[in-house]
Amino acid sequence: MAQDAQRLKTILSSAPVVPVIVHDDVSTARALAEALVAGGLANLEVTLRTPNALKVMAEMAKVPGAVVGSGTCRKLDDLKASEDAGCQFMVSPGAPVKLLEAAEQVSIPLLPGIASPTEAMTASLMGYAYLKFFPAEAMGGAPVLKSFASPLPDLTFCPTGGIDIEKAKTYLALPNVICVGGSWVVPDAAIKAGDFDKIQKLAAGAATLKG
Ligand code: 3PG
Repeated sequence: MAQDAQRLKTILSSAPVVPVIVHDDVSTARALAEALVAGGLANLEVTLRTPNALKVMAEMAKVPGAVVGSGTCRKLDDLKASEDAGCQFMVSPGAPVKLLEAAEQVSIPLLPGIASPTEAMTASLMGYAYLKFFPAEAMGGAPVLKSFASPLPDLTFCPTGGIDIEKAKTYLALPNVICVGGSWVVPDAAIKAGDFDKIQKLAAGAATLKG
């Protein structure tokens, strides 16, 4: 099987929310990760969207309790670099077959993104049971995942995209949702202001959601 489903299940079931982090400042990476972990969110998705993203991941991976993952993985090089940076999981906005095949060459599990039944079935046929639903709100939100549950009962989702704490509750109430991803716990303004207390509080609020 291409995806280590058990490993991914263990990681994703440990917290109801995965913060989606776009961060370039290596000097504040640790403080940001510490605030999120202290608030109760251990799984941290750091997107490969900034020049220093890999360095940020490596810094965050030093924080006790942090389970760092890479986000926005699009090609084999991204997967290999994520593994080298100390990531424990990887996330992609999509599920191109080439990427799913490439993931077999790295030892950490990939959570690929899907937005339709055909994409979900393609990933499923290649051994992927845990999938990101992206962009969740724009693609129809919780009613879509509810509709997936009966025909695709063996697939489990992490919806991401346009989710806030209220919407998160609706998704987390679905049986085929293991956790949700979102950036609302890491607002740009708080990061720029160095207001890590605020981020810890937002994380604590998210961590109490029922997963
Ligand atoms: C992303 O990849 O940017 C995530 O989907 C985060 O989405 P959000 O900012 O709408 O939470």
